[in-house]
Amino acid sequence: MPRIYVTRAVPEAGIQRLTEAFGAESVCVWNHDRPNPRENLLKEVKGADAIFAILTERIDGEVMDAAGESLRIVANMAVGYDNIAVPDATQRGVLITNTPDVLTETTADLAWALLLSACRRVGEGERIVRANAWKGWGPLQLMGTDVYGKTLGIFGVGRIGQATARRASGFNMRMLYTARNRLSTEIESALNAEFADKDRLLAESDIISIHCPLTDETRHAFGAAEFARMREGAVLINTARGPVVDEAALAAALKAGRLRAAGIDVYEREPEIHPDLMACENAVLAPHLGSATEATRARMATTAADNIIAMLRGERPPNPVNPEVLE
Ligand code: GLV
Repeated sequence: MPRIYVTRAVPEAGIQRLTEAFGAESVCVWNHDRPNPRENLLKEVKGADAIFAILTERIDGEVMDAAGESLRIVANMAVGYDNIAVPDATQRGVLITNTPDVLTETTADLAWALLLSACRRVGEGERIVRANAWKGWGPLQLMGTDVYGKTLGIFGVGRIGQATARRASGFNMRMLYTARNRLSTEIESALNAEFADKDRLLAESDIISIHCPLTDETRHAFGAAEFARMREGAVLINTARGPVVDEAALAAALKAGRLRAAGIDVYEREPEIHPDLMACENAVLAPHLGSATEATRARMATTAADNIIAMLRGERPPNPVNPEVLE
């Protein structure tokens, strides 16, 4: 009987799939809706064949060693896996899996929710209404910036970047994108998108939406130097990973009016947010909601479970991050 350790409470659909496959006694859930304390994680993970992991837990060599020789897979319930030390896993022959695709459209929706809120000052307006400070319609009140007809820059056009770009078609936008690999001409013309280097994206976009993974290369890809090169009054959206943006520099650019607004879902040190950014009225700040719909979170949980089930049954898991350990 395998032992599967789930690091915190997750949608029931994922647990159900695991218990159907291996029986309830196989599945041990730290059943709390908060991060699993490190000491507890290191203790409870012992003897696990599989870890069902969540972004709030750092899974590194120490955790893998605490699990012991039995550990075969860490299935992250997220598309990003920067919380996992992949080289440590590969070295130990442990497979890492993630949950791509199932959250693409949901995260792109959130990028647009932030984009529209930031451009049209919805957060500021809501705060005024809720403070009972609204004095009625005013010709000078809370004037934002149009989205329609503007240039949208997609920084890192993977699955979510493309889904975000597709949503722009009703807004008659021009689109620029950066990517490691250029899209096909068919996709470019369907998206009305043009391949650009970072310099051009910064110089020509009215709104930039970040969709790259967090890597050594993308850490602080947006800092004071980039904000200085962006259009005066541009808008920045980040639904990718917090450390891609230098939060203090972003706050300074928003405060100085260099950037008009920002819509941010992810932070450098979640759940902490830089106090200068918290003080920016022109920042719409969401609590890492990108994939947070009932249907998508259920699909993420069942996808993580499916990866575990396949691995423990000796089949090929659908979403390997370090497939070399399967060879
Ligand atoms: C969430 O942030 C994810 O990477 O799935």
